[in-house]
Amino acid sequence: MFKKILLIGGNGFIGKYIAQKLSKGNFKVLSRHKAHSEGFIQGDLLDVNSLIKAVEDIDCIIQSAQFAGHPVERPWLGSEFTYMGFDAKGTQNIIKAIHYAKKQGQIKQFIYLSGAGADLTDTNFDWLKAKQIAEKAIQESGIPFTIFRPSWVYGKGDRSMSKFIWFAKYLPFFPVIGDGNTPVNPIYVEDLAQIIVNAIGQEKALNKIIELGSPELTMKEVAEIVLKMTGKQKPLIYHPKTMMKLIGFFAQFIPFSPISPSAIDFLTMKVHLANLEPEVFGVKIKSLEEGIAI
Ligand SMILES: NC(=O)c1ccc[n+]([C@@H]2O[C@H](COP(=O)([O-])OP(=O)(O)OC[C@H]3O[C@@H](n4cnc5c(N)ncnc54)[C@H](OP(=O)(O)O)[C@@H]3O)[C@@H](O)[C@H]2O)c1
Repeated sequence: MFKKILLIGGNGFIGKYIAQKLSKGNFKVLSRHKAHSEGFIQGDLLDVNSLIKAVEDIDCIIQSAQFAGHPVERPWLGSEFTYMGFDAKGTQNIIKAIHYAKKQGQIKQFIYLSGAGADLTDTNFDWLKAKQIAEKAIQESGIPFTIFRPSWVYGKGDRSMSKFIWFAKYLPFFPVIGDGNTPVNPIYVEDLAQIIVNAIGQEKALNKIIELGSPELTMKEVAEIVLKMTGKQKPLIYHPKTMMKLIGFFAQFIPFSPISPSAIDFLTMKVHLANLEPEVFGVKIKSLEEGIAI
């Protein structure tokens, strides 16, 4: 096991679950906010100098950060609110910092939270392009890596599934964006966090790219499962993508709006995962029914 792990994004939705599963005293969380307790280090993915300091005594890095407001990019607030300016550049910055600090021999594993579909090169989605740039920077760094490509991650504290459960409970109908045929492979956040922690220091995890998710469902099937699990029977109302993109165009300018035209494209992106395993590093991935039931 490694002596010191740097968890970037450890205050985030997935990062918090990873932090809970890591041994206390064995890791520190990089956060933009002033270090409020032991185990935190102040730093910013977009500030290479802060990263040079952060990697000083580190032998493993977990990169699980994402810009605030995702999946709505807000370039008018600054490039750090875009995939290219944050995910791509931020991950490249970590590699830069490791090299500037001459720590490439010291870092024994770089674990990166990429995303499902990052292998689709023929794409217009900046989300995927940024993930590809980040993955490439890690792969070319010479540092042993483990890249995870999870599908949609859900669990307590998430941004989407909890909304779906609320829709099922309180709306007179269940809204579905698009035609309901968007494929997804939802993965329960505790499963994902445990897989990541189990991969730390494992020889067989090194220099691997691993897709993660439960067996494929369509969004229509997800809606039906959420309704069944909440004990509700409501009609599914399909909202055409073009209409949602138009609404998203205006909504994106509202602070904290969860939609924009490109966010609608992101949410309806058709990705089929061909290399899924039902069990990864000793963790049996739960079905959506099992995950929601917890
Ligand atoms: N959620 C999903 O369904 C899903 C699916 C597939 C892949 N992923 C990937 O998993 C990773 C984590 O996702 P998430 O949903 O857990 O993200 P999240 O909840 O949005 O977490 C973002 C974290 O990033 C940190 N952050 C933001 N700006 C930063 C900066 N400039 N410097 C350093 N840290 C910064 C924040 O920490 P501070 O505020 O403390 O600085 C925050 O805790 C992302 O790479 C995402 O693409 C997520």
